[in-house]
Amino acid sequence: MVVEITEVVCRVGRSFRQAASACGLAQKDSVRIAYNSAAMTVTVKSFAKINLGLYIGGLREDGFHELRTVYQTIGLHDLMTVNVERGRGIEIRCQHSAVPKDESNTCYRIVDRAMAALRAKGRVVIQIEKRLPVQGGMGGASTNAVAALIALERALKKNLRPEERLRIASEVGSDLPLFLIGGTVLGVGRGEQVFPVVDLPAMACVVVTPAVGVSTPKAFTEWDRKLTAPDASDRMNLLGRGLSAWLGEMYSGAPFRRGRRENPLLELVRAGIKNDFEEVVFPEYPELSKGKAALERVGAKYASLSGSGSTLYGLFASKEAANLAAAKLRKQGWIAQVTMTLPRREYWKKMLS
Ligand code: C5P
Repeated sequence: MVVEITEVVCRVGRSFRQAASACGLAQKDSVRIAYNSAAMTVTVKSFAKINLGLYIGGLREDGFHELRTVYQTIGLHDLMTVNVERGRGIEIRCQHSAVPKDESNTCYRIVDRAMAALRAKGRVVIQIEKRLPVQGGMGGASTNAVAALIALERALKKNLRPEERLRIASEVGSDLPLFLIGGTVLGVGRGEQVFPVVDLPAMACVVVTPAVGVSTPKAFTEWDRKLTAPDASDRMNLLGRGLSAWLGEMYSGAPFRRGRRENPLLELVRAGIKNDFEEVVFPEYPELSKGKAALERVGAKYASLSGSGSTLYGLFASKEAANLAAAKLRKQGWIAQVTMTLPRREYWKKMLS
């Protein structure tokens, strides 16, 4: 950290020292000011994700379930500010009462690991401006953690190796690594093994956020209780092939297709992808099933629960269609927001802008 302080002072240069001394500040004071200067504070956007299909396989020995899913980052986001100060420890600040401020917070857990891996010292203050729903199935806690990590590295001007970053992220949660890739991402294993796939073009999206939170572990338990089939691994293979076919067809020049290329939205519908969580979450929260039906009624080309919910989303052919649909949904009493899916390049560009 001392190196960093020196760097800041050196960069600011003689004029800073002259100004400091003109103000009657000793060299030590000017160092402290430099330490707390904007150079150590980084703000980044923490974007949400939706799941384009999610298939749950068997319960593994480690207590997790095998998954196949396609994650897609979207434009809705929280704002994360990370500040590295003199001292020790990690402090989480957030106005939202449902966000834990202690060491159970994913941001705390990832920063704790990253500080150790980077051999960095200092007090890390993480400010979360919460806009995404908590327990909403949009990866809020996971994206916050990854954003905190990215902001921390920038604040410290130190970088983890990419594979180390992915390892630390996957230790904190299955849904974190996808946010180190962004755009359209294939998730396998427990969802933590992530592979960038060719981005879907940006699509208009209406996100409906019902006022309930769904616990992901509980939804998995309910899945086991009700639905795990004895042939779960066969099913994984079958569904894995379905996803591959959908992703592959869209971008390959292979001569299998008859007729003109379809809109990726329509191909998605045609592939019949689904989110398994709907089977256990909809019976428990009937209003979510009504929300999906409402999205379909106002013209969504594809509507689904995201993750284990409670967020529902609909994909629309255009921004105009999405705006119109959202207005209709709001009239019916739903909380509906219009956004766009975020391809990879935009994800990174907008995160840091
Ligand atoms: O990885 P993460 O901390 O997000 O997972 C939370 C909980 O969700 C796990 O403890 C586990 O109960 C459940 N889970 C699962 N299978 C997965 C991912 C999560 O059973 N693939």
